Order: sequence, then C-alpha cells, then structure tokens
Amino acid sequence: MIITVDGPAAAGKGTLSQNLAKKYGLAYFDTGMVYRAIGVMMLHSGRNLSDAVYAERLAGELTFAKMMALAEDKEFRSAKGGEAASIVSSYSGVRRKLLDMQRNFAFKPTFADGTPAKGVIYDGRDTGTVICPQATVKFFITAKPEVRAKRRFDEFAAKGQNTDFETVLKDVKARDERDATRKDAPMKPADDAYILDTSDMGIDEVFQKAVAIIEEKVR
Ligand code: C5P
Repeated sequence: MIITVDGPAAAGKGTLSQNLAKKYGLAYFDTGMVYRAIGVMMLHSGRNLSDAVYAERLAGELTFAKMMALAEDKEFRSAKGGEAASIVSSYSGVRRKLLDMQRNFAFKPTFADGTPAKGVIYDGRDTGTVICPQATVKFFITAKPEVRAKRRFDEFAAKGQNTDFETVLKDVKARDERDATRKDAPMKPADDAYILDTSDMGIDEVFQKAVAIIEEKVR
C-alpha cells in the first residue's frame, strides 16, 4: 500500500503520516528532508542560496545515508534550515535530481532500522501529484495560515527556539506563495486526493477521518 499526504507547511502532514504509518505498518518518507538536506549543505558551504547550479550539483550527489546524517545537524529542523529548503526546492534542476531517490523508496520500502516494510507513506507537497501518482490513497491536508503558523510557533517554542509569531506567520505565507507559484510541480491537490481542512480539527479527529477513508478505499 502506498499513501501520499500532500499539503502546505505545518498543516499536520507529519503527525498524520506517522500515525498512519504506525497503524498500517508502513515505512515513512518525509520528503521535506531531501530539500532540508540540500538547504543545510548550502548553508555549510557558505554559498549564496541563490546559487541554483551549485544546489543542483549537491542534489545530484545526495544519498539516503547522507540525508539521514544531515538530519542530525542543528540547522536541519530550524527556521533557517526550513527557509533554505524552501528556496532550493524552487529550483527545477534540484527537484529533478531528487526525483529518483524519492520514487525508488516505494519499490523497496524499509524502516529506519533497515527491515523491510509492507508499503510506504509519503509526506510532502508533491507526493501525490509528482512522486507517486499511482498511490493507493492520496490526502491533501491543509489549514488556515494563522492556524499553521501557531502550530509551527508552538513547535519552535517547545524546542526552546526563540522566535515571534508574526515572523513565523510571515514565513508560512512566504512559503505558501513560493510553493504555489513555482513553475515545477506547484503545490496543489491531486485530482483524486481527499482534501482535509484541519483548521478546526484535533489530531485524533484528523486521524479517524483518514482511517475511515483508507478503509473505504481498500475494502
Ligand atoms: O515539510 P518541510 O517543512 O520539512 O519542507 C521544507 C521545504 O521543502 C518546504 O518549505 C517546501 O518548500 C519544500 N518541499 C517541497 N516538496 C516536498 C517537500 C518539501 O518543495 N515534497
């Protein structure tokens, strides 16, 4: 079984995906990690983030193992890392170079410890439209920008990262704009995606709704 969970920043894709992965015994691929890896490498290199040619070269050399190692970097989940990821993800060449790595995972999905899984759940903005259009079930998870910014803000605060709400909201809106207008794979729901607006829903309600849809679909 392949499930895709697309949608904008901080809509609740990660939480839903991980809960579904646990329930159905699926491997979990957070595709934002590939762009965060390139973003962090760009920051380490000292190059300007506008250097699309260099970013594309780094994307061509990225392996799964390298990505997992970079995930330990303190910038990886930071606001700065997210911003860098968002910028490099708008380069067509970068997206193209990272396609196979993401797609191939569905042919041999494994858990973090290397054991094989029965399927995969992809979390990311273009997973149902570009990475895995053949997925069994596709979701598009969204929420109002203010609600998403509040969730991101709370996450940063819980990790002790200093920021203010207005900055996070501005960042969420800037990312939405970049994601929706980039010419390569702009963010939009797949035609056959189930759209869930989580603005007024708790984590459990979203999960129960998604499970009901999956059960109906695979029955
Ligand atoms: O989901 P996350 O915040 O980790 O993603 C980091 C950035 O990578 C996003 O802001 C988005 O611009 C980009 N991204 C993307 N396509 C994906 C996943 C993430 O463009 N499938």
